[in-house]
Amino acid sequence: MTSHDKPDDHIAGRLLEPALRGAYGRTPENVALAQVLMAASCAEEADRALDAAIRHIRSAPHERSEAASRLQRMRALWDQTPDAFANIKAVMHSLDHPGARDPHPSPETWATIFDDAVGVSREASVALYCLGRADLLRAATDEIVERIRAWNLLRADAFVLDVGCGSGRIVEALARHVKTAIGIDVSMHMLQAARECCAACGNTVFVRTSGQDLSAFPDESIDLVCAIDVFPYFVMSDLAQRHICEMARVLRRDAHLLILNYAYSDDPTASGNELRRFAQEAGLSVRHSATREFSLWDGTCFLLRKSSQQERSI
Ligand SMILES: C[S@@+](CC[C@H](N)C(=O)[O-])C[C@H]1O[C@@H](n2cnc3c(N)ncnc32)[C@H](O)[C@@H]1O
Repeated sequence: MTSHDKPDDHIAGRLLEPALRGAYGRTPENVALAQVLMAASCAEEADRALDAAIRHIRSAPHERSEAASRLQRMRALWDQTPDAFANIKAVMHSLDHPGARDPHPSPETWATIFDDAVGVSREASVALYCLGRADLLRAATDEIVERIRAWNLLRADAFVLDVGCGSGRIVEALARHVKTAIGIDVSMHMLQAARECCAACGNTVFVRTSGQDLSAFPDESIDLVCAIDVFPYFVMSDLAQRHICEMARVLRRDAHLLILNYAYSDDPTASGNELRRFAQEAGLSVRHSATREFSLWDGTCFLLRKSSQQERSI
């Protein structure tokens, strides 16, 4: 924090900080708003935090007009999304399950939690930063799939596997570009939502997984594995290394694994190092490490590639 980022006396730093991150463009505005709402104990408190952030910006000499404009857009977004606070709090309530406080919650615990969360809000249960809005979730999904397409990871004859597919938004968007898009998840209710989401696709398959491994899939059968905001749950369940090995096993040679968000960690350097070590041990090379690729999400991107036959024999 600089001297200009000092929290307002009346608003806890936990609220002003995310508002100022949005104001200074360090996080996307919708993400910053979601973080303010997550930290607030009531809607009025969040409102006061945005007011305090605007006052604070006016007293700061740098980036004043741009930062103030970002805060005004955050406020406008909230005005246009009156249910945002209720949506976010309802999903957070589902996530605040006693089982989630275990040192290593089991996949069954996450299944129970996400079964509940998707019943609360299909949109917010997979991406709080969309504030429960279908249009924002769609735009964020399109950004992710456009990035995957721009990296040439999609082919008309490809089999793609989305691990922890949730309510199916990524599978639905990928299915247009590939032969078959497969989604797996531990949550039956998420899978039900995913089947409904993809009812018109014709080339999607959904499978319930135990959450322990990818034993339903043969070796070298998949052209792209995606894991969007699911690794943090593997990490918490102490299943991250096993999943990276399993993903490496099912990938064809030269095929890719895309991980968006590895851990919800206070030490991103340490968790990035851990991921790179697990990847190397599994025979995956790192093409992108902890990059931020999106305008509507601050998720960090790790793109890994399975080594070719020649590289392995060198
Ligand atoms: C935050 S949601 C993300 C869903 C989806 N990837 C998306 O971005 O829309 C996390 C998902 O991971 C699933 N999940 C958690 N642990 C899992 C495990 N061990 N195996 C498979 N899925 C898991 C949850 O049920 C939930 O649907």
